Amino acid sequence: MLVLGIESSCDETGVALVEVSGAGVPVLRADALHSQIEMHQAYGGVVPELASRDHIRRVVPLAEAVLQRSGVALADIDVVAFTRGPGLAGALLVGAGVACALGAALDKPVLGVHHLEGHLLSPFLSADPPEFPFVALLVSGGHTQLMRVDGVGRYEMLGETIDDAAGEAFDKSAKLLGLGYPGGPALSRLAEQGDPTAFKLPRPLLHSGNLDFSFAGLKTAVLTQAKKLGDELDARKADLAASTQAAIVDVLLKKSLKALEQSGLKRIVIAGGVGANKLLRSEFNAACAVRDVRVHYPELHLCTDNGAMIAMAAAMRLQANVQTASKVYAFDVKPRWPLGDLTA
Ligand code: KG4
Ligand code: ZN
Repeated sequence: MLVLGIESSCDETGVALVEVSGAGVPVLRADALHSQIEMHQAYGGVVPELASRDHIRRVVPLAEAVLQRSGVALADIDVVAFTRGPGLAGALLVGAGVACALGAALDKPVLGVHHLEGHLLSPFLSADPPEFPFVALLVSGGHTQLMRVDGVGRYEMLGETIDDAAGEAFDKSAKLLGLGYPGGPALSRLAEQGDPTAFKLPRPLLHSGNLDFSFAGLKTAVLTQAKKLGDELDARKADLAASTQAAIVDVLLKKSLKALEQSGLKRIVIAGGVGANKLLRSEFNAACAVRDVRVHYPELHLCTDNGAMIAMAAAMRLQANVQTASKVYAFDVKPRWPLGDLTA
């Protein structure tokens, strides 16, 4: 079975083809991606209307590239999957519209996928795929969640952010420091030249006793520190960036270790854009090694938004019989869609 997946929830247009055979882990046949980062850079963040228009321009050429790379004909596609939410409404409508039109034209069923489930299952596309059950740390631009995952569609929320997401903390702090968009990669690059112990920044909710996060206070602390430095800021920017990154990673790591301890599980999956962070990976690798915990990540290029994770989530839902694809081509999108509302 061949599943074509289309991602268009934010500022990346992604298309990919995944093949399911029997009960084996589905395999990525080809993927293509266009990032709008350059276009939005001039505005310091994503401009929704520009995002939607660009998705329209990119999606068909990307789908053609995927078919060409995989040597698969359009008529051989069995299911067309798309990101149904959460995300920007206009951007989601592009992917959903194209997927459903394609399904109708080919007389093939379609399936709407939850974007976060795509991130969550993306490590199954790696050379070292996980096995259920595991703890998942989902760290993206809009979400920071710890979950217990017992199977496809079987997600139990253990804790989540009560305000900003970890990616947002990176992005907002980077903006305060005058770094580019998206802030995560920019801040972590600068942090490599800085001293992570230079500034004492807060670790909100670290000792709260539960598995929730809060990052809004960190951004305020960074701003206060930057103001205090005044003219000195430029010379100390790398130190402040390194201290900020260390604070974010520290909280993510400690809470994740607590989730592992409480659940008794010996496996963790890190997914979402922040999962590409080098310090985060090295800290998790070191901490998990001494605790005999297996840690899994998506391939680096599949950490941020892409079509492969959407095709994969659809493929795994179909394989696990938790959802069927349908030939009803009327569609809706869900800009706000908590993962907990996802029916198995
Ligand atoms: O998962 P994603 O592509 O989009 C959402 O679904 O939100 O995540 C994007 C987020 C942004 O906040 C970006 O700054 C962050 O991931 N990010 C990083 C890194 N690469 C991307 N944060 C820290 N270090 C990185 N290397
Ligand atoms: Zn995402």
